[in-house]
Amino acid sequence: MTRDIKIAPSILSADFARIGEEIDAIEAQGADWVHVDVMDGHFVPNLTFGPPIAAAMRPHIKTVMDVHLMIAPVDPYLEAFAKAGADYLTIHAEAGPHLHRSLAAIRDLGCKAGVALNPSTPASAIQHVMDLVDLVLVMTVNPGFGGQSFIAPMVDKVAEVKQMIGDRDILIEIDGGITPTTAPLVVKAGADVLVAGSAVFSGGTVETADIYGKNIAAIRKAAGV
Ligand code: DX5
Ligand code: ZN
Repeated sequence: MTRDIKIAPSILSADFARIGEEIDAIEAQGADWVHVDVMDGHFVPNLTFGPPIAAAMRPHIKTVMDVHLMIAPVDPYLEAFAKAGADYLTIHAEAGPHLHRSLAAIRDLGCKAGVALNPSTPASAIQHVMDLVDLVLVMTVNPGFGGQSFIAPMVDKVAEVKQMIGDRDILIEIDGGITPTTAPLVVKAGADVLVAGSAVFSGGTVETADIYGKNIAAIRKAAGV
C-alpha cells in the first residue's frame, strides 16, 4: 500500500507537566501531527486545558497542530484556539445547533475546518456541510478519556464517510482505541490520519522516547504503510 497515512499522537496520554518536551520527543520519533484534546467537563465528562496552554504548546509543534475541541458551546472559543495556533480546528457535529455557521467561522479564522462524529451520530449528520470541511474525524470511542476500547462497528461508518467524500479533498481521521490491531481495519475502510494516545505513549517517557518511536512504527507497520 502506498497511501500516505499520518500518525497523530494524542498529547492526552503525555506527561502534562513536561508537555513541551513530550511534543519534541514524539516529533523526533516520527509523529506526523500532534493531536491536542480539549475537554470542558460539560460536552464530555472530563477536563483538560484551554487556549493559553494550547498556545504554550505551539512553539514546540514543528509538524501540524491538530486541535480537537470536545466543548459546547464551541463558537465563543474558536477565535482563541485559532490565535493559539491551531492548523486544524475540529469541532463536534453534536456541539451546537449551527454546525454550518461554526465551520464557516473556522475557515474565516484561517484554519482548516474539521468535524467530528460521536459513535452514535450517523454519517448523514454532516451530509450537507461537506463543502465546508477539510477533515472528518470519526470517533471510535465515546470522547472523554484515553485508553478506551475501539468500537468495531465504526469501521462501517468510516467506509460510509469515505463514500460521501467522493473526490473532494477531505481527510478522514480516526480517534479512539487505535492500536496495531485496529489500525489496519480503519485504514482499509479509508482512514488517512490515525490518532493514538495510549498506543504511542505507553511504556515510554521523555527519557526513553525511543519507545514512542517503536510504538509509532508498530502502528505504521500494522497499517501497511
Ligand atoms: C478521546 C480523545 C482521544 C484520546 C485517544 O476523547 O479524543 O484523542 O486521547 O486515546 P487512545 O488512543 O488512548 O484511545
Ligand atoms: Zn481526540
